[in-house]
Parts: sequence; structure tokens; C-alpha cells
Amino acid sequence: LKATIPTTTLEEIDTLHFNPLNIVFKGNYTVPGDKSISHRALILGSIFGGQVTIKNLNGGEDVHSTLAALEEMGVKVISKGAEGLVIQGPQNWLTPSKPLDMGNSGTSTRLLMGLVAGAGVQATFKGDASLSKRPMARVIDPLVQMGMPKPSGENLPLTVPPNEKKLLGIDYIPTVASAQVKSAILIGGLFAKGPTRVTEIMATRDHTERMMGYMGMPLETQGHRIQVREYAPQRDAQITVDIPGDPSSAAFWVVGALITPHSKVTIENVLMNPFRVKFLEYLLEMGGQIEVEDLKVTQGGEEVATLKAHYSPNLRAIETDPVQAPAALIDEFPILAVAASFADGQSSLQNLGELRFKESDRLFKIGELLRAFGISFEITQNEQGGESLIVHGRPLSTYTPLGHPITYSSQGDHRMAMSALIMAAGRKTPLRLEGVKTINTSFPTFLEQLGVG
Ligand code: S3P
Repeated sequence: LKATIPTTTLEEIDTLHFNPLNIVFKGNYTVPGDKSISHRALILGSIFGGQVTIKNLNGGEDVHSTLAALEEMGVKVISKGAEGLVIQGPQNWLTPSKPLDMGNSGTSTRLLMGLVAGAGVQATFKGDASLSKRPMARVIDPLVQMGMPKPSGENLPLTVPPNEKKLLGIDYIPTVASAQVKSAILIGGLFAKGPTRVTEIMATRDHTERMMGYMGMPLETQGHRIQVREYAPQRDAQITVDIPGDPSSAAFWVVGALITPHSKVTIENVLMNPFRVKFLEYLLEMGGQIEVEDLKVTQGGEEVATLKAHYSPNLRAIETDPVQAPAALIDEFPILAVAASFADGQSSLQNLGELRFKESDRLFKIGELLRAFGISFEITQNEQGGESLIVHGRPLSTYTPLGHPITYSSQGDHRMAMSALIMAAGRKTPLRLEGVKTINTSFPTFLEQLGVG
């Protein structure tokens, strides 16, 4: 039998043979700068006017796509080094000389569309196969209402025509709970005549609002209603933004530790924004042994803490809130489903329809992952069409590792790739993972820290 279990190798063809038999999560693990905040630091930092020093910027490909697009539009990188990346936006926004390559990044595309609309420049957006399938009408519709000329299509590649006229502020109630949609409108609103208001039915991550406030941009919030006014750039001002560690990346180490015997990890400097750490609440409710220590505020208006997580053999099943959880856990459902598969009992992760529009159809891909490891599940639908995932947990005490390697494809989705590796580590089952390089979109040091790099 031994001969059938390969050692870990990384093939050129983007497939990883991962042998997790000796994997234990022990000691200090790190996470990159938060991806959502990195995009905002770059985009809002370019609109700011003066020089912005950005520390701990996420080094993944998605954030690089944002920076490269901004440079095409006239943003200058003044310096980069140990003290951070120093950028300054242009006095006049330039028309990009080539298509803006958004790679895999929905956040880059949607937030930059707000900037392109505001700046009035013509720009073509293109992206990889996964991004080219994702819906853009949700940002195009409100931006067109503000006066952006109608783009050439509703999926990438698409071109936004030039616009001589200023945008006009609107009052908008998004139909999907999406921080990207809210942010695109608010970014456009910084260039618009009159106030721009977004009223959210369900509150989403508020990094854009916090960063705008930190940079002194004219923003007011009242409950679920956020208003911005036209912003006058401050060419002589200087500001530093320190980006906290990404909790969505920390979730992989936390769950890895909870499900893998003998594990105990410490992760410092993790963002504690309430919209981003709901997964910790659910893991605690499941009986996960997690401690949050050293809570403090960073430059940039966010809070960070140190996370500690220990092996927790007696995880209990959970039911996630159908109203609050979908937006608050949107990126953590894959790894939460992995944790739920180790719990005793039947977990119900509710109202997950929006997962179908992520880097992959994540609801389908989570199902495939569970099935590959022999975990039963159902996807149910309620009368309103809301889809839920029911996971029939198999704690390690009732699970026999599959003796043979299993194959799983990430379908170009970084979070599915990392979830699959953590599942394999916990279940001590060798994994042939197709589509592993996509992890670089958000977490370039993940494999190295997993002991694979
Ligand atoms: C993000 C918002 C979320 C999230 C994505 C990053 C952001 O998307 O899934 O990874 O930075 O605003 P939606 O706002 O579209 O749900």
C-alpha cells in the first residue's frame, strides 16, 4: 500500500501531489496583508492626492492587478522598500494605453470601474476565464445611472467609453449584499456632482468607508445608509496606511489546527473587523479552542489581534444564520464547510446562493470536495430559492483515512485549493490537487508554510 502514496511534489503542469501524513500545524504562522484593504489602500490612496505609504500590502496577484491598472492610469510608485510602498495619484487621470488585465480579481474589476467612471477615461477590462464569467451588471447598472457611458458588454472583456461629463450622485439600494458593489458606487461618488447615497439592505464589509474616513474624504454614515460627496484631492498631504493581516487567509491555519491532532498555532496581526471575523464566532460555537489576544488599532482605522488555535477533537455541528451569515462569511464558507465535516452531527450552512458567483461556483465545488473525501451532504432549496448546504459530519474518531490518493481540481479558485489541502491534512489522505498556482492570487506563502513550497 505504501508504494501507492506519493511524496509531495509540485509538477510544472500546475498539479500538486500532497502527502499530508506528517502534517501538524504547530508554532507561528503568518498571513499576508488583507486583500480587501490592500485594494482599497491602492485605489483610495491614488485618489487621495498626496503621497500615501502603504505597509504590508498583500503581495498576491489580485492586488498586483489593481496596482498595474492604476499605474496605467497615471499613478506613480514613488518608492518601494522595507518602509512600504509609496504611491501618488495623478493630477489628471490618463487613458490606459492597453487593456487593464484584471487576472482573476473581481474586486479589482468592480472597484476600478468606479474609478474609471469617475475619472471619465476610456478603459478596457479583461480577465481570466473565471473572471470573464462573473457578473458585472451589478456595478455597471448603478454607474450608468450616475452617467457612465454604457460599456460594450456585461462580462469581461468590456470597454467603458470615455466621458466628458461629470458623474451625478444617485440614491441607490443594491439588490445584492456586496461590498464590491457598494464600494464601486462610493468611489464613483468621490468624483460626482451632488451627494451619492448607498443604502444597504444587509450591511457588508466596511473597509471602503473606514479608509475614506481615515483619508479625510467626505463620507457620512447613518445606519445602513452611506453618503459621499465630491472629493478635492490634497496634493500636499501625506498619510500612512498599515494593512492588517488577512483573516480570510488566517481561517485556513485556524481550521487546520482545530482539525489536525497535536496542532497549536499562533497568528499575529490578524484583522478583527466585525464584518470579517464571523467565522471565528461559528468556530467557537462549534467548540473550537481559539483565543483572541492583544487587540489593538492600526494606522488605517482597523483593529488587529493575535489568534491562537488548538486541536479540538470534539467539534459540534452548527447552523449558520440565513440572513446575517451569507455576506459576513462569504469567503470563509469553503473552509467552514471543511470544519463542519469534522463535527459531530449535521451542520446547516444556510442561504449560500451567492457562492455560485465567486471565483468558481463555490457551492458546487464545496460539494465536490466533501464527496471526494467521503463526506455526505445535501444542497437543499427553500421556497424562496435560497440554497443551503447540509453537511453530515464525520469526526476523525469515526473516519478511516482513504488509503489511496484522491484527485480534486480547484477550478482556478484559490480558496477551494487551500480548503482542499487543509481537508487532506486533517483527514490524512493524500491529495492530487489540480490547479494549485491559483493560491498565488491571495496567499503566495501558503504552500511554503504548509511545508510544500
Ligand atoms: C470583497 C467583497 C466580497 C468578497 C471578495 C472581496 C471586497 O465580494 O467575496 O472576496 O473586497 O469588497 P462581494 O462584495 O461581491 O460579495
